[in-house]
Amino acid sequence: MALDFPSASQATELVEQLDGLVSFFKVGIELQLAEGMSPVQNLISKGKKVFLDLKYFDVPETVERAVRRAATLGVTFLTIHGNGRNIEAAVKGRGEADLKLLSVTVLTSLDASDIQDLGFPCDVEALVLHRAKRALEAGCDGVIASGEEARQIRATLGDKLLIVTPGIRPVGSPNQDQKRAVTPREAVLAGADYLVVGRPITRDPDPRKAAQGILSEMEEAFTDPARA
Ligand code: C5P
Repeated sequence: MALDFPSASQATELVEQLDGLVSFFKVGIELQLAEGMSPVQNLISKGKKVFLDLKYFDVPETVERAVRRAATLGVTFLTIHGNGRNIEAAVKGRGEADLKLLSVTVLTSLDASDIQDLGFPCDVEALVLHRAKRALEAGCDGVIASGEEARQIRATLGDKLLIVTPGIRPVGSPNQDQKRAVTPREAVLAGADYLVVGRPITRDPDPRKAAQGILSEMEEAFTDPARA
């Protein structure tokens, strides 16, 4: 569950509304800028798991040092971005800590024209697969990838990488800025291990009901024999 909020009070309200349903929360740049690391510490002290999504992308030594600090916080997942050397630096910084490093392949808000705009003359799937393969070679634990590419990653790289999928949109939910969105069922069937959901829950007038709907769709899909 993505806690994309400008204040700790809004984040706490949602965490309480989802009590007993959701136990893994993602803290991103907005909440971290507003409140520093206290939301992370509060969540951990309440027994929740935290996904710190700051997408570290810098020169390798800076990434290594930032990851070394993040590894002391008790968070479960951390996102990084970049090429093989960056990922290797992050793996070194993580050391023996119990922290899974997830490398962003291609943001789920980007489509073919956006990656051309960024200067990559290839299709999205080829770039995602290339980055997933490099992440694995560099010792990363998993990747962030859209449901559109999860099946291909599984087929090519097997179970060696965790696949974490944002850009989840239940049927009828607006896409907003997400361009490679899939339903919860599609993401799980494609082989995603974890789904990241934000606005379909946070912007729903009844967040608990929205979360329940997504969770039951996921549960069904996880036991579906058609799952990749
Ligand atoms: O609101 P929505 O469900 O689109 O939220 C998706 C969340 O996942 C956001 O917090 C966004 O930063 C994050 N994310 C993403 N695509 C990635 C990596 C992270 O949408 N590739």
